[in-house]
Amino acid sequence: MFEPVRIAPSLLSADFMQLGRDVALIEEAGAGFVHVDVMDGHFVPNLTMGVPVVKQLKRATSLPLDVHLMISNPLEQLPWFLDAGADLVTVHAEALDAEGLARAVAAIHAAGALAAVACKPHTPTGVLAPVIVDLDMVLVMSVEPGFSGQSYIEGTEDKVARVVEMARAVGAAPLVQVDGGISLSTAARVAAAGADVLVCGNAVYAADDPARALADIAAVADEARLAALAAHKEVSSACLLS
Ligand code: DX5
Ligand code: ZN
Repeated sequence: MFEPVRIAPSLLSADFMQLGRDVALIEEAGAGFVHVDVMDGHFVPNLTMGVPVVKQLKRATSLPLDVHLMISNPLEQLPWFLDAGADLVTVHAEALDAEGLARAVAAIHAAGALAAVACKPHTPTGVLAPVIVDLDMVLVMSVEPGFSGQSYIEGTEDKVARVVEMARAVGAAPLVQVDGGISLSTAARVAAAGADVLVCGNAVYAADDPARALADIAAVADEARLAALAAHKEVSSACLLS
């Protein structure tokens, strides 16, 4: 069955003086998640928002809060974000060893939230192997984490395809999210490769008409996804017939 690609606008590119307005805007425009970029000035050079903002967002929107933790000590801070109302929490594979990742995923699930693990552009997908069967989502970074408005790293779509294949091989089907430099010109490529959730910062919030930009990106992503599914079906039936 065809599942539309979901758009997760990143509040990092929103107007912090008008957060309520900017969240309402994407909710009305059909966003699937609100993407909240938490940076600690240590795991990444930038410092952004934290627990109090997540708490207030929870009251302001019915969209699921997708909290991307770019922090060095996720195991310590996870309970705070879960208590604040995070619906989906992403921890970075580079911040934890395999045992730590498993503990983080278990803690997120114990709180009733969805669990994801993120990989930076140069992190091999192999780090996902010990936990992939337990994940609700894998986040493939298409820029170095830290700042919005960067350019998409060419070839990330191949990594997306590898993650999809890796999950399928062990009977898992986590959502695959791509984050960084996603716009009207890059969305189709990652959607065709198997991405289910696209994070968009500047491409939505820096647009003249953010709601229109969101809808346009969702439309090109869906079109690419449908075309990829159709091509896959054709190949499968050709194999069956031959
Ligand atoms: C980067 C963040 C991204 C970023 C996306 O570290 O994780 O979510 O804000 O912004 P754009 O879409 O502008 O690259
Ligand atoms: Zn992010």
